[in-house]
Amino acid sequence: MNWPGLIKQYQSYLPVTDQTPALTLQEGNTPLVHLAHLSEQLGIELYAKMEGANPTGSFKDRGMVMAVAKAVEAGSESVICASTGNTSAAAAAYAAKAGIRAIIVIPNGKVALGKLAQAMMYGAEIVEIEGNFDEALQIVRTVSDTAPVTLVNSVNPYRIEGQKTAAFEICDQLGAAPDILAIPVGNAGNISAYWKGFKEYNDAKQTGLPKMFGFEAEGAAAIVKGEPIAQPETVATAIRIGNPASWNLAVAARDESEGKIESVSDQEILEAFQLLPKSEGLFAEPGSCASIAGVIQQVKNGQIEKGSKVVAVLTGNGLKDPQTAVSQIKYDPVVLPNDEEVIIDYIKGVVKA
Ligand code: F0G
Repeated sequence: MNWPGLIKQYQSYLPVTDQTPALTLQEGNTPLVHLAHLSEQLGIELYAKMEGANPTGSFKDRGMVMAVAKAVEAGSESVICASTGNTSAAAAAYAAKAGIRAIIVIPNGKVALGKLAQAMMYGAEIVEIEGNFDEALQIVRTVSDTAPVTLVNSVNPYRIEGQKTAAFEICDQLGAAPDILAIPVGNAGNISAYWKGFKEYNDAKQTGLPKMFGFEAEGAAAIVKGEPIAQPETVATAIRIGNPASWNLAVAARDESEGKIESVSDQEILEAFQLLPKSEGLFAEPGSCASIAGVIQQVKNGQIEKGSKVVAVLTGNGLKDPQTAVSQIKYDPVVLPNDEEVIIDYIKGVVKA
């Protein structure tokens, strides 16, 4: 069967009506991949939920299809968001598909190249500010309160509704909820959405509940530190956020599930960012790798028991941020003359080595 997209597939769990447009880019239904090498190294059963396989390359598509469909249903002709990059790519794509405008407000110089390229190609109105994500979010909240434009950041409840469907899929893919769900935390919408999804699916199908383990980047770890951070900094620009909008919901998800929210350093993030493609063949953007870095850290600390079944959410595709990738690898290409004999000799030498 051709996958119908989230709104159709999960309509009985979503706030859709006869008037909700059948918007889709066939988001959702992403793979859950067993990480055999890391599982063995860590002594756990580790899986990755591949959210980079969504149409615009991140989990944001799940929330954005709902938010844009509901905006259109309400008669809106434009949507607006602040973004570290992925939200803006998704907003721009779904607005294009729906035939409405997208206005995106992003921190100048702090959005990964692939995400910026997407917003440009999908035809968004791009406003770069000399400020950070938190400041951009404040501005778009004010604009949407005073102008006829729908806010599609995760403070829009339809975003959370769409994003909760990833938890349903994990339960269906594993047959039940895992012991632990490890997830990066930025603005804290996604951890809140997953927890809502696990609870609703458990009510409907008795799939059980995981412990929610959220991971912030150390330089942007407001929830871990217990106070907003005015100037957040991290190599993981996706989660460079100092005052998460869904702070309270994330803390509730942590506490209700008996989980944790911890921080991972840029070094831990970058190690996971390189380990994952080399050992598992999976390329995820740095912000996503906070989940894997967190799992490694918590196993080392003895906070994840051996044998646990753990799902790490890989929130965005590695191709989103090619600049960080190439800056991490020492790449010193061999350049040979265009002489068949020389090239073949060289390659034979590599094969033997
Ligand atoms: N991972 C990636 C790849 C992200 O882009 C984000 C957030 C997160 C994790 C964190 O999710 O905010 O729900 O806690 N990106 C937003 C954006 C802020 O603008 O694209 P969260």
